Amino acid sequence: MTERYVVAIDQGTTSTRCIVFDRRGQLVSLAQQEHKQYYPKPGWVEHDAAEIWRNVERLGPEALRRAGATIDQVAAVGIANQRETTVLWDRATGTPIGHAVVWQDTRTDTMVGQLDEAPGADGVRHRSALPLATYFSGPRIRWLLDHHPGVRERAERGEVLFGTMETWLIWNLTGGLHVTDVTNASRTLLLDVHTLDWSPESLAFFGIPRAMLPEIRPSVGDFGTATAAFPGVAIGAALGDQQAALFGQTCFAPGEAKCTYGTGSFLLLNTGSELVRSTHGLLSTVAYQIQGEAAAYALEGSIAITGSLVQWFRDQLELIASAPEIETLARTVTDNGGCYIVPAFSGLYAPYWRSEARGVIVGLTSYITKGHLARAVLEASAWQTREVVDAMNADSGLALSTLRVDGGMTADNLLMQVIADVLDVPVVRPLAAETVSLGAAYGAGLAVGYWPDLEGLRRNWHRAAQWLPTMESAKREIEYANWQRAVSRTFDWIQ
Ligand code: G3P
Repeated sequence: MTERYVVAIDQGTTSTRCIVFDRRGQLVSLAQQEHKQYYPKPGWVEHDAAEIWRNVERLGPEALRRAGATIDQVAAVGIANQRETTVLWDRATGTPIGHAVVWQDTRTDTMVGQLDEAPGADGVRHRSALPLATYFSGPRIRWLLDHHPGVRERAERGEVLFGTMETWLIWNLTGGLHVTDVTNASRTLLLDVHTLDWSPESLAFFGIPRAMLPEIRPSVGDFGTATAAFPGVAIGAALGDQQAALFGQTCFAPGEAKCTYGTGSFLLLNTGSELVRSTHGLLSTVAYQIQGEAAAYALEGSIAITGSLVQWFRDQLELIASAPEIETLARTVTDNGGCYIVPAFSGLYAPYWRSEARGVIVGLTSYITKGHLARAVLEASAWQTREVVDAMNADSGLALSTLRVDGGMTADNLLMQVIADVLDVPVVRPLAAETVSLGAAYGAGLAVGYWPDLEGLRRNWHRAAQWLPTMESAKREIEYANWQRAVSRTFDWIQ
């Protein structure tokens, strides 16, 4: 019998990958391409959506070639995407209107500050279960409608469309299907998380025409059939990348959690069919929905900058030549020398939600070397994780007993040890490193019956490594207090 595969497209913040998986959930081949980052002004981050689509068009066939597979061996395609990044395009020509505005972009800062105080803001917060923040797509759509002449009128007539990256890719893959999934819709501020439909009141609040929005579908189900890149293949799943990682880590039961360390880091706790509202600065979000079933929800601790800080250390400060060197450099010293870096480059997300915050380095003396700075860079990811774990424990009333991790930064053994130390719980990494892609593949495979059920997927999960806490508790608490003092310095910088 000819082997059959499932292909995942992982459209991330810095790159796009196409990965071919087999029935055991093992990676058969991978094709990857970075795309250009545009930083036109401080706080602005943009992508060229047309470039990203061209990459997918090329990477799909490339991944199949590397697997030695033909298109008829592909059972389904699944998509995982960077969330909240906002694209507008012309329905007739398929041409993007300007650049896509990326989730890290803070250009809507002033607008969001004003909207936060406006009548109706409480209703938006309640229906979306999100804080009003620059992070989400809704304010970006409003900004684009306000800043591109004539686009609002055209959007009202349905001639200009909005999408996050999965919507943009499905539109291109299928030759014009305009759809999103519930997880991506739950990141816009425009969704009513109970009805799982666009909220007319929230659309009116932001001044966004309904005609430009995609149809919302369950994450695991039917997203049409590809006519390009994978002609004739069913698109069976679309999930925001962090929700895809939760799925790939097989956190299907309430109480199961994972943290993905990529450009930013995102800790998601499955709360089951119940939407839990945070009182400690976390988001409530849709975890996934399988067609014909109730949606599963999650509590999320979103950290904007973790891997991006290592990138900044490499590309802007040029203190290392490649990201893995940060570990070697950090190991040249035994501690941070009293130095803390708080990377509030896009404001601070969970648990603070302060878009006006800006990054700080504190505790500099002539004693500090680049080794201490490298250590402070890694520790920043660990302390930010501690803050969201504390919030999660307070919201759920339970103490997290282990942290399942994944993502590129988990290759850094020192970082993993520091995280175990500052959280005081074991940190566990699965054998399958590409959990975002795996989650998208699992969803697509379930949709077409390639995998029969969730239980079968659980059996594919195997532990690859574990780090146990070794830090003395008195030291941990002193360091944490120092970190929190450093965080407080980020709030009063911008007047
Ligand atoms: O919410 C933003 C998140 O989806 C970005 O993920 O992996 O592209 O940094 P990543």
